[in-house]
Formats: sequence, structure tokens, C-alpha cells
Amino acid sequence: MRLRGRKGIRENLEQQEDLVVLDPGQYRGKWAELFGNDLPIHVEFGMGKGQFISQMSYKHQQVNFIGVDMYDELIRRASEKGRLAWSEEEVETPPNLKLALFNIENAEQVFAPGEIERIYLNFSDPWPKAKHARRRLTHPRFLNKYTQILNERGQIHLKTDSVTLFEFSLNSFADYGLQMTNISLDLHRDGLNEEHVMTEYETKFVGQGMQIHRCEVMLGKQALEEYSKDRLEKYGN
Ligand SMILES: C[S@@+](CC[C@H](N)C(=O)[O-])C[C@H]1O[C@@H](n2cnc3c(N)ncnc32)[C@H](O)[C@@H]1O
Repeated sequence: MRLRGRKGIRENLEQQEDLVVLDPGQYRGKWAELFGNDLPIHVEFGMGKGQFISQMSYKHQQVNFIGVDMYDELIRRASEKGRLAWSEEEVETPPNLKLALFNIENAEQVFAPGEIERIYLNFSDPWPKAKHARRRLTHPRFLNKYTQILNERGQIHLKTDSVTLFEFSLNSFADYGLQMTNISLDLHRDGLNEEHVMTEYETKFVGQGMQIHRCEVMLGKQALEEYSKDRLEKYGN
């Protein structure tokens, strides 16, 4: 039975302790314990209805995934998608997926230093007005938080349809002294790029013929070393 109304949604979430984390702060420094293994942890900040994180968890079973959003209803919808990605009957608990309810402003209260290996920022709210720039998830204010929780292999992967958010983000990463790579102004230029799992927003925007902008940012020492090695192989000295 599908529960309706705010109370119904909360009850639904409370019944899904295997997948949904309503008080994520209690797992700070203990996410590996919660997953029951030491696999790397990738987080999507602002997962919406959860299409991306659900499919990623099924496609990459050697990675633990945490989908984050601040709305109960979105966590509920993502829980349906998460189970559906693993079995059509929606009965299985995806072993490498958790859905956490919290505001990204509190990321350091939820994750201990170095606990996370990768952050996905997919179609984050662009906050186009200059007076709201501080709310953009790639503002240096947020980069400060991300550098604290990411580990030696730490990376941020950004996808957006918004030229203004993309431009702002590239400047923000550059001002912060971060190494960017694999920058694309039109991810699906040659047809759908099948390597990349699509989000709900991406599916909609690509259907409307819009261009998707993407880049990867290397933060951790080891991520940077691997990037330098790849660059040498590609271009020589
Ligand atoms: C535009 S939607 C994109 C959803 C999804 N990533 C996609 O690409 O389809 C942005 C999502 O980020 C969430 N969000 C925005 N700010 C947030 C914050 N400070 N903390 C947690 N979630 C946030 C919103 O609730 C919304 O679901």
C-alpha cells in the first residue's frame, strides 16, 4: 500500500531502515560499518528522484553509493527506484545503496574527514541571480566542505544544462586551485554517451535537444598523481 500525506511519507521512510537513513549524523565516521565493507563511497548531493544513484548502484557493485536530498518525498521516490533497479518486485535491499535525508550545508556533520571518494553534483539548482551565488553547490563555501570529507582519491563530477552554473563552477574550481579534466560542453554531441548513466533532469533536457556540460575535478593527492600519469601518457613530456 502506498502511504499518502506528509505523515504517511515519514512512516513509509521509517519502515525502510535497510535503505533509508533519516538521522545520518549518527553514522559520521561509521558509513563503512553501516555498509559492512571498506568499498569506496560515492555520494550524489541533490539526487532528486534517484534515477542516477539507483542505476549507478546496480552498474557499479564494487562501490557504495549514498544519495542525498533534503525532501522526504524525494527520498521515498528514490527508495522505489533503488529497489526497482535491483529487482522488479522491489523486494530486495540494494546492498551498496543508502538514501540519506539531510541538507548539504551540514555535510561535515554527516561525513568524517576523508570518508568519501567521489561527489556527484548533477543538475544542481543554478541559482541564477548573483545575490544567490553563495547557494550554488560549487561556491567555494561548499568546496571547503567537500575538501574536508573527500579522501586521497577524491574527485567531484559535475553535470549541468546551465551555462551560467557551469561557467561559475569552472571559475570557482580554478580560483580554488583545483585541477579540472574531461571538460565537455556537449556530453551527448555524438548521440547518447552510453558510458554515462543519465539523471531524470538529463533525460528530460537531452529529449529537448539541450546541451549537457560536464567536468571532473581532481582533489585528492592520489587522484592528482593518477591524473598526471594519464596526462603524460597522452601527451608525453
Ligand atoms: C534540480 S534537482 C536535480 C535532481 C537530480 N540530481 C537530477 O539530475 O535529476 C536538484 C535537487 O537537489 C536537491 N537539493 C538542493 N539543495 C539541497 C541541499 N542544500 N541539500 C540537499 N538537497 C538539496 C533538491 O531537493 C533537488 O532534488
